[in-house]
Amino acid sequence: MQTVSVLGSTGSIGTSALDVISRFPDRFRVSALSANSNVDLLSRQVKRFRPKAVCVVDAAAARRFRKISLPKIKLYEGEEGLCGMAADLKVDTLLVGIVGSSALMPILKAMANIKRLALANKEALVMAGDIIMKDARRKAVKILPVDSEHNAVFQCVESGRSAPKKIYLTGSGGPFLATPKKSFKYISPEKAVKHPRWKMGKKISVDSATMMNKGLEVIEAHHLFGLDVGNIEVLIHPETVVHSMVEFVDGSILAHMGTCDMRTPIQYALTYPSRVSSSVKGVTFSKSEALHFYSPDFKKFPCLRIAYEAARRGETYPCVLNAANEVAVGQFLKGRIKFTDIAKVIEKVLARHRGIKGAGLRDVLGVDAWARLKTKELLGVVSD
Ligand SMILES: NC(=O)c1ccc[n+]([C@@H]2O[C@H](COP(=O)([O-])OP(=O)(O)OC[C@H]3O[C@@H](n4cnc5c(N)ncnc54)[C@H](OP(=O)(O)O)[C@@H]3O)[C@@H](O)[C@H]2O)c1
Repeated sequence: MQTVSVLGSTGSIGTSALDVISRFPDRFRVSALSANSNVDLLSRQVKRFRPKAVCVVDAAAARRFRKISLPKIKLYEGEEGLCGMAADLKVDTLLVGIVGSSALMPILKAMANIKRLALANKEALVMAGDIIMKDARRKAVKILPVDSEHNAVFQCVESGRSAPKKIYLTGSGGPFLATPKKSFKYISPEKAVKHPRWKMGKKISVDSATMMNKGLEVIEAHHLFGLDVGNIEVLIHPETVVHSMVEFVDGSILAHMGTCDMRTPIQYALTYPSRVSSSVKGVTFSKSEALHFYSPDFKKFPCLRIAYEAARRGETYPCVLNAANEVAVGQFLKGRIKFTDIAKVIEKVLARHRGIKGAGLRDVLGVDAWARLKTKELLGVVSD
C-alpha cells in the first residue's frame, strides 16, 4: 500500500489524480489533500478518500471549511499551513498539482518526508530548478514527471536505457495556431482558455495560447533531464498523438504516443516502475490521416522566444520570466490587459533584471518578489 498526498486536489490535475487513485483501492491510500478555495469539492473529496489531513489556503474559504462537518481530520490553513502539512506528514508519494509558484515552498518542506515526488507543477522548477533537483538528490527523492511531455521523455529515457542526446518537446500549438497575428490583440480570456485538445486549469490554458507553456516546459526539461537548452527543440504537432521524443547518441529516436488524457502520465508516475491497466482509451491509428511536425513561429508567439532567451541566460532569468508571466496572465484573465501585453511586459521586466549566479533560495524568493512588483508597476496595477 502506497501512501499519497495530493496538493491541489481540486484542480484539473488533482481531480484526475484522485480518479486514478480511486481505481486502485488496494494500491493507494490518500494521506492529505489541499485546495486554495474550492471547499465544496474538497469536502466531497475528504468524505470519499478519508485523508488524515487537509489544507485550505485561502483564509475566507478555510473559515467556511471549518463549519462543514467532516470525519476526524487535521486541518491546516494558509500558505504556512500548507508548508506545515508538507513538513509534518511522512508519505511515499507527494503529487503536486498546485498551479504557480505557490508550490515551491511546500515541495521543499516535504522533501525530507517523501520517497517520490510526482510533479505536475512546472512553475516551481522554472523558478528554482537547481535548488529542487539538488535537494531531491541529497534526500534521495525520486522525481517522477507528470507533465505529459516530460512524462513521455521520462518513459523514452527509461526505455532507451541511455542518456538523451536531444529532446523534442511536442505541442499542439494551442487555440491560436491558425489565427492571424493581427487579430491577437482582440483575443479575450474566454477564447484563450479554450484549448483544442486538453482540459486544463485557466493559467496553463492561457500559457498554452501564448506558447509560454512550451517555453516553461523547455526549462522544466533542462532541469529534469540535465540537457542544455540548445538540445531541447520544440515541435508543433497539431494532432497531439506524439507527446514527445528522445534522440540517443546512435541516432535512434524513441517517441511516446497516446491520447490526450492526463490520467496516463499521472498513473505511470504513481505506479512506476510497474505498468497497470488503465481506463484511458488508446489511439485509433486507422482514423488518423497523418502526423505533422514543424518548427514554431517565434515571431507570432514571442513568449516562446522570450522563454528560450531566459533559459539560455540561466541564472535568475527564468525566475523573473515565471513571476512576470504569472502576474501578466492573472491581469489578462481579469480583463485588465490585452493578450499581446503579456509578452511585452515580460520582456520589459527581464530587461530590467540583473541575473544572480548560483542563486540560493533566499535570492530566488527575493527575485520572484521583485519581478512581481516590477510587472505590476509596469502594468499600472493598483490592487490585486
Ligand atoms: N491541467 C493539465 O492538464 C496540466 C498538464 C501538465 C501540467 N500541468 C501543471 O499542473 C499544475 C496545475 O495545473 P491545473 O491545470 O491542474 O490547475 P488548476 O485546475 O487551476 O488547479 C490548481 C490547483 O491548485 C490550487 N491552488 C490555486 N492557487 C493556489 C495557491 N495559491 N496555493 C495553493 N493551492 C492553490 C487550486 O485550488 P482551488 O481549486 O481551490 O482553486 C487547485 O487545486 C500547473 O503548474 C500546470 O502547469 C497541468
